[in-house]
Parts: sequence; structure tokens; C-alpha cells
Amino acid sequence: MLNIVVLVSGGGTNLQALIDAQNSGKIKNGKITCVISSKEDAYALERAKNNSIKTITLLRKNYENVAQYSQAMLEVLQKEKADLVVYAGFMTILDETITKAFPNRMMNVHPSLIPSFCGKGFYGLRVHQSVIDSGVKITGATVHFVTEVCDGGPIILQKAVEVKDNDTPEILQKRVMEQAEWQILPKAVNLFCEGKLTVKNNKVFINE
Ligand code: GAR
Repeated sequence: MLNIVVLVSGGGTNLQALIDAQNSGKIKNGKITCVISSKEDAYALERAKNNSIKTITLLRKNYENVAQYSQAMLEVLQKEKADLVVYAGFMTILDETITKAFPNRMMNVHPSLIPSFCGKGFYGLRVHQSVIDSGVKITGATVHFVTEVCDGGPIILQKAVEVKDNDTPEILQKRVMEQAEWQILPKAVNLFCEGKLTVKNNKVFINE
């Protein structure tokens, strides 16, 4: 059984999707053993507690810089014996100390079809606002491995979602979550735990 550690900063609906998948037996060979939040008031922490999952708050404001915060995070992840680290709406920057310690063992869910609408400054509702402003008709979500390049790691799964004429960022965010994120994140986690993901030349192959 692999230890899955989930990093959160906000509402935690993606964490909830993982918990629901776990509770209905859709994550084989893996268990969410710990949820770490960068914010003390993240509702994601309640979701973890409601399901008797260990929680840790590692507040960014208690550390002077990214390097010190990353070092503290690394120590917690090692202590928790994390086999897989999942960024589920984790909005705090970590440096390469972390990515190098967990090569192809950290994944992130991003609310667009990477390589569009991603990278520095593209997070949460800002992504959906940019999608609407651009006039594209299709958006979606991506689950990818985390590397030192922001939103640039090997892509595991993607799913497309329609953009509608009268969308607001909030309406579009909800559609992308429901139709894409909450489906592909648990699926990617399960594929990892079942040992079905291989990375070659920056590409992910799924061995079904
Ligand atoms: C999700 O839409 C997630 O994809 C996005 O933040 C939201 C968190 O929601 N993440 C990013 O933008 C990271 N670049 P949640 O807390 O309800 O899961």
C-alpha cells in the first residue's frame, strides 16, 4: 500500500474527489495518509478530519523564504514516508529541493489544457478568466508530474471541457472541476498506485 500525501491550500474539492474515490475502492494499492495545508483556514483540513485523515499545517508565513519553507516541507514529507505527493489546489511555491527528492512521484492538477493558460501567475480563477478573455471554445484540466518547471512536467491525463458564451470564471471553474478535475485526478492517482505509469523522454505512457 503506497502512502499518498495531499498538499492543499483552499476548499479542497479535489481532495474530496480523492477521498470519495478511496472510500469507494477506486484507489487500489494506495491510501491518503496525510493532508498538509499551507493555510490554517483551508476548508480542505475539515474534509480530511471528517474522514479521520491526519492533518498538518505548514504555514508559509512562518518561514522567511521559499528555500526554508521547501526544506521544512521536505522533512515533513520524508517523516510521513510519502510514496506519492499530490498537489490538490496547493497554491504555495516550493523549490527544486522538493521536486528533486520526488522525481515523477509528485503530481499536480491544473485547471486548463497545458501548455495553454499555465505557468507563473496562472492559478485558480485567474486561469478561467484568461480562458474567457481569450475567446477559446475549449478548455479543460491536466494532471501532470511536478518538475522544477512551473506546470511543465510530463502530462499524465487531460480532459477537455466546453467554454460557453455567458460563462463567468466561477461558472467555468465549476464545470471544469465537475467534468474534468474530479475525474482525472483520482484516475491518475490510481494509475500511479497500480504501477501503470512510465515516463520516457518527458512523456508519460500508461501501461493498461
Ligand atoms: C482547482 O481548480 C485546481 O485545479 C486549481 O485550484 C483549484 C483548487 O480547488 N489549482 C491551480 O490553479 C494550481 N495552479 P480545490 O481546493 O477545491 O481543489
